[in-house]
Amino acid sequence: MSHIGSEILQAKSILEAGKAVAIPTETVYGLAANALDAKAVAQIFSIKKRPTFDPLIVHTHSLEALQSFVLEIPEAAHLLANAFWPGPLTLLLPKKPAIPDLVTSGLERVAIRIPNHPLTLRLLQSLDFPLAAPSANPFGYISPTTAQHVADQLGGDIEYILDGGAASIGVESTIVGWENGIATVLRVGGLSIDAIEEVIGPVQVQAVSSSNPAAPGMLKSHYAPRIPMRAGNIAEMIKEYSGKKIAILSFQQAYPTTAINYILSESGNLNEAAQHLFAAMRELDGTDADIILTEFVPATGLGLAINDRLKRACAEE
Ligand code: TXA
Ligand code: MG
Repeated sequence: MSHIGSEILQAKSILEAGKAVAIPTETVYGLAANALDAKAVAQIFSIKKRPTFDPLIVHTHSLEALQSFVLEIPEAAHLLANAFWPGPLTLLLPKKPAIPDLVTSGLERVAIRIPNHPLTLRLLQSLDFPLAAPSANPFGYISPTTAQHVADQLGGDIEYILDGGAASIGVESTIVGWENGIATVLRVGGLSIDAIEEVIGPVQVQAVSSSNPAAPGMLKSHYAPRIPMRAGNIAEMIKEYSGKKIAILSFQQAYPTTAINYILSESGNLNEAAQHLFAAMRELDGTDADIILTEFVPATGLGLAINDRLKRACAEE
């Protein structure tokens, strides 16, 4: 079983030995290894049972450190980096050869971000290499937002989990790349599109799917609980599934039913709802319900990321 603790030195020595460690970030916990060492990175794929066509995000601590890994940083990327790093933003930038092909699945661009978590920033500053880290969940399952979530699922395969408390944002970073010079959001996430547009003007948002070669890992079915989940009008679905054992994941209101009902934010705050989303899905997935019924939230701010995760959790393939 893995050890849970907040010892940066212990995490550092395991990473320096070429092994994987789970790390906290403000979005979700990551499963980290030396991004410059293909053998270390290979362990991430095997622990997560993640296909190698799904590239990883590289985490670093400063714009200066970034220079060794990327060929150039477009002006708009600079503006975004200055405005939002450290924070829930990932930029796709042309990679230097120092980044092994395994990290990018052979793509020319590497996904990079500076995470906003004090423990992980200190860990990154103490290392002389960046960390490749996908979310620390088995491939396709719900992302972890606490150290215990990681231990519950990958505890047997990781030596150390660096515990930095519950993730403050709760959904993964927003991914931005440039397609023919046009800023393009490839994954909606913890940084709202409005915030991005305030800094660099209008961006395009690309509907990503498994058939989109620019983002091979963004499969339709993802973040999925084991119990089937359906999104729509909860009151109507309660009637439709009256013979079944149901669990309800609602945004703001409680439903008059005896079913277990997790409310994401009673005050209707989308940031709070994002913070609770994955823990809620896990909790309901741990019940003996036959089906989880949920509803979409208002499509503004972090609501876009919440709805995206709910859609993927409900998708069948
Ligand atoms: O908030 C986050 O981004 C978290 C924390 C741990 O930093 N990480 C995370 O990683 O969500 P992961 O691996 O679960 O999701 C990364 C996504 C994948 O869907 C992958 O396809 C995409 O980023 N990605 C990574 N590198 C890419 C690249 N070079 N080109 C296109 N997409 C890429
Ligand atoms: Mg993930």
